[in-house]
Amino acid sequence: MKKNVFNPWEIKGNIDYEKLIKEFGISPLKTLPEVFEKELLFKRKIIFAHRDIQRILDAIKNKKKFVMMTGLMPTGKFHLGHMILAKQMIFYQNLGAKIYIAVADIEAYNARGQSLEDSKKIALNEYIHNYLALGLDPKKCEIYFQSNRSNKAEISNAYYRLQNLLAKHATFNEFKAVYGDITPGKMISALLQASDMLHPQLPELENSCPVLVPVGIDQDPHLRLARDISKRIKTNKFTQLSSTYHYFIPGLKGDKMSASDSNSFIALTDDKKTVKNKINKYAFSGGQPTLEEHREKGGNPDIDVSYQYLRVLEQNDKKLKQLYDDYKSGELSTGELKKYTIETINNFLTTHQKNREKTKQLLKEYQ
Ligand code: TRP
Repeated sequence: MKKNVFNPWEIKGNIDYEKLIKEFGISPLKTLPEVFEKELLFKRKIIFAHRDIQRILDAIKNKKKFVMMTGLMPTGKFHLGHMILAKQMIFYQNLGAKIYIAVADIEAYNARGQSLEDSKKIALNEYIHNYLALGLDPKKCEIYFQSNRSNKAEISNAYYRLQNLLAKHATFNEFKAVYGDITPGKMISALLQASDMLHPQLPELENSCPVLVPVGIDQDPHLRLARDISKRIKTNKFTQLSSTYHYFIPGLKGDKMSASDSNSFIALTDDKKTVKNKINKYAFSGGQPTLEEHREKGGNPDIDVSYQYLRVLEQNDKKLKQLYDDYKSGELSTGELKKYTIETINNFLTTHQKNREKTKQLLKEYQ
């Protein structure tokens, strides 16, 4: 039997979301606040849980300042799974949030052994370029590298100072309880991530204010640590962090997308032929082995990878529901569902890749 591993640096095997919600003590997003109804990720429950979201909703309602802060570990190609976070950045930017984005190059060095140069290249050409092409406004957000916070000494000092001061307020047992196996490098990365999440509230930046951290659920240990230790630091007053959690969309074969296996994901730079081939050849199907059986028993869209991708890309709710129902009843075949998925992905990628061309020159800012 394969051993399940689940921590911020490694995921192996199936993820039991229900169990994690309970174990971590996070809250399911039951009723959808009105401002979130417009965003498909909320509507379709791809973002499914939170901590202290009310504070953010109040800030939005009362037109008060709030920050959205998140980060990325720059490894491999930017794929459909990464789009979930990018879309949230853009959504909150449009709602008027101040956006802070950390490129976790120190973390990639400490946890993965990836050089800072490689992280920079990948962050620019894969992540940041795609964020911009998806519509993130670079003028209204602050993207920084953990290894090079800012050219302004005041801000840089504040960020690294906070990381160091936070160390005093965490105990070794706490690290072990939150992370299990831990190395000095990972410990440093966890404290730096705590500073990522908390430093926007320092007087050098925004002062105490609501901060929302949208992440995959594997990142919750970092949030728990940051929330706990931020309460103990007496020299600064922090508004408690808020967070939301999204599902991981499956890789083509039905399990996790893996940066080292390009047949496990659709990259946002894939061409039409590649997409067609990947979906037809690899996308795990929830259909029956034969068409006859499929017509008779129907398919299972909940485990069908093509359908899972449509949940993120198909804009029309009615169409999505129709596909779900028709696949379940057997009226829609796996071949037909795959064909529709290929068309939908390729339509999206054609526009996206044009937008990549248009936004290329903006990257100079980050060199
Ligand atoms: N650890 C995150 C990841 O692996 C990246 C990250 C760094 C981050 N700093 C952050 C995420 C702050 C959220 C907030 O993807």
